[in-house]
Amino acid sequence: MSIQHACDVLIIGSGAAGLSVALSLAEHCQVIVLSKSNIQEGSTRYAQGGIAAVFDENDSIDSHVQDTLIAGAGLCDENAVRFTASNAKDAMQWLIDFGMPFDRLNDNQDSEYHLTREGGHSHRRILHAADATGAAVQVTLVDAVLQHPNIHIFEDYNAIDLIKSNQHQQHALGAYVYNCKTKHVDVIQSRFVVLATGGASKVYQYTSNPDVSSGDGIAMAWRAGCSVANMEFNQFHPTCLFHPDAGNFLISEALRGEGAKLVHADGTAFMHKFDERGDLAPRDIVARAIDFEMKRLGQDCMYLDITHHSNAFIIKHFPNIYRKCRSLGIDITQQPIPVVPAAHYSCGGVVTNQHAKTDLDNVYAVGEVAYTGLHGANRMASNSLLECIVFARAGAQDIQSRLTQPLKQETISDWDESRVSDSDEEVIIQHNWHELRLSMWDYVGIVRTDKRLERALRRIDLLQQEIHDYYANFRVSNNLLELRNLVTVARLIIVCAMQRKESRGLHYNLDYPQLLDVAKPTIITPPEQ
Ligand code: FAD
Ligand code: SIN
Repeated sequence: MSIQHACDVLIIGSGAAGLSVALSLAEHCQVIVLSKSNIQEGSTRYAQGGIAAVFDENDSIDSHVQDTLIAGAGLCDENAVRFTASNAKDAMQWLIDFGMPFDRLNDNQDSEYHLTREGGHSHRRILHAADATGAAVQVTLVDAVLQHPNIHIFEDYNAIDLIKSNQHQQHALGAYVYNCKTKHVDVIQSRFVVLATGGASKVYQYTSNPDVSSGDGIAMAWRAGCSVANMEFNQFHPTCLFHPDAGNFLISEALRGEGAKLVHADGTAFMHKFDERGDLAPRDIVARAIDFEMKRLGQDCMYLDITHHSNAFIIKHFPNIYRKCRSLGIDITQQPIPVVPAAHYSCGGVVTNQHAKTDLDNVYAVGEVAYTGLHGANRMASNSLLECIVFARAGAQDIQSRLTQPLKQETISDWDESRVSDSDEEVIIQHNWHELRLSMWDYVGIVRTDKRLERALRRIDLLQQEIHDYYANFRVSNNLLELRNLVTVARLIIVCAMQRKESRGLHYNLDYPQLLDVAKPTIITPPEQ
């Protein structure tokens, strides 16, 4: 028999989005927060640059809105953009009230916040904690969450699927979750479910993301009948550290915000040839330019040069990047940093409204898992942690207003393991993992063509069939669950990419280099089951 747990709100994910929802609700109800790994792990803790919000009196919400719309290449939902930009300052104050240590202009704790710049922003508007903003956000939120008696943390629990009601089509009763320690599947029953599982960039061979970013929430929502949108827009960050021992280490865009230049091996700058905004052009343009130069010159990487600044400036503003590079024998105060683009951010996701609600009546999606309309065809730097917190607060407010609604009582079936056995050949999982991620990198990457997308679809369909058969016959494991989700997400990316007959923002197809006159999101809905 499955172990059963119950709560008012089940939050799947312990990054900026999930923890912000938890903290916003905890005074009103009992919350369970699931984390697939330990509570700290997720993209949030690796964020470097910062969080965009208008704090400078010469800046304005209109300007933040306009910059976001321009970066989004005509595809943002202006209401979502305005909602986010208008709520940014309050959201940051909420975070500051929990103790978030944003850098100030000087050592005086009453001085103004230091604001940095990144691509696409026409003003200095990025609040940050040196070059490790995400780690500070995660620690701040985790500290607060651990102190709250109404928040119950379940680490090493991998949510498998939402449990749909048999009586009410659009309602979820909770989720089946795999306890990675006991290796059993438990049931968590809840009045509301919040998907806060982060992005899906692990679908690509090279990524800046941690292992947990396997698109689980998107795949779960799709299986449960929710629409998803704009999956073709996966953002490639232009500058990840190129070094065999670097792991997935990012070199923040904030370096370019402070004047660093992209150069060839001989030191020649090249971004001005691609865009008049040069090194601070939006990410899609910079990533494509680097990819183009690498292919044109047959080079493995390009370089980012910040040596024009003093040692003291570099070490003060970028201590984390300085230390990491130094540990690999690269002194960024003296030499350019080798960089390559890598998959970084899922702009599309589960379709939500301005209260973070999905198509299901009691299921919400917050953070990178969601499609709110904010990012359009290309997310502007530092708008995503902001989106996590603004929409977490909006979603929590909506849930809170519905807590008195009567509970829908229904018996939940146990997880059925009667027809499965232990996996016989783990190698199939390993092999399919590699094949999937490589196919996506080679055929559905920075530059696409119809032929590449067709090739990718054929391979992904075959993999999906094999993974489906495996899932039907063997006991679940973490790797199998992630692979099943990744193949679903890969297919959604390809299907969306095939529907877009133009090149816009992050989606660049050589067969359709032009922009269509009318910009439309790609919204897809699961077939009726
Ligand atoms: P995450 O922080 O990724 O958290 C996801 C959570 O879901 C994790 O706890 C994970 O364990 C859990 N989870 C996933 N699947 C399951 C499952 N099946 N069951 C249970 N739990 C599950 N954005 C900015 O705005 N500014 C920046 O400077 C910035 N820099 C970045 C640098 C890097 C290197 C990276 C990778 C991203 C950066 N981003 C930045 C993007 C930003 O960090 C993410 O979009 C944001 O942190 C996503 O937060 P989240 O809460 O949605 O997801
Ligand atoms: C970075 O620091 O370059 C990442 C910023 C972001 O992804 O928003």
